Amino acid sequence: MVAQSIDERCGPGRPDRILWRCLGAAGIVPAIVPAVLGILPLSTGYQILGLLHILAAICAFGPLFLYPKLQRSGETQAMAWIHMRFVFPSLVLLWVLGMGMAAVPGGEQSYDMANTPWMTASIVVWLVALAVSWFLIRPAIIDTSDAARGKLAAGVGITHLLLLVALWMMIFQPGDTVFKL
Ligand code: HEM
Repeated sequence: MVAQSIDERCGPGRPDRILWRCLGAAGIVPAIVPAVLGILPLSTGYQILGLLHILAAICAFGPLFLYPKLQRSGETQAMAWIHMRFVFPSLVLLWVLGMGMAAVPGGEQSYDMANTPWMTASIVVWLVALAVSWFLIRPAIIDTSDAARGKLAAGVGITHLLLLVALWMMIFQPGDTVFKL
């Protein structure tokens, strides 16, 4: 079977339009909008932050699964746009929303961060992901040399491992969880 190019699958155009068309085509946008609107009246600020935190994690880590294929098909401009305008800002937002959840005033679960090891560790994991994204993946995106291919593969692989570690910490929350009084 002949592999379809990005243009054939999502239509030609600017990288930002390609991304939106791909998301729309996959049914992601039509599924998320009613989910967010439906949950709003029932939720506390903490739950809304939690929803946005998980969405930010999907946006920050999800597109990396496409990078090797995009690089093989020569879609370096689209990849550069996705990385700098979508993935990187989502990664920053992920931390902002996580900190918001930890500190939300009047929330049921306001954490004492200094005494909550899984949260401190998750900030370290996030910082490593940020460094890999900026120093390893970003320079390798528009370079088609073999060395750059290797760097991109390493960056994507390390980020996937960091994602696993972060998810484990978020869900199992190892060590004590100390709440603010
Ligand atoms: C690095 C990548 C990260 C990923 C993939 C991630 C993902 C998640 C997920 C899936 C949850 C829901 C867990 C559950 O409810 O069982 C969660 C919760 C949470 N995350 Fe993150 N997160 C990340 C980084 C961070 C960072 C840097 C912070 C900053 C402190 C943070 C703070 C929180 C807090 C406070 C919760 C709520 C935990 C609870 O009360 O159950 N996260 N995160």
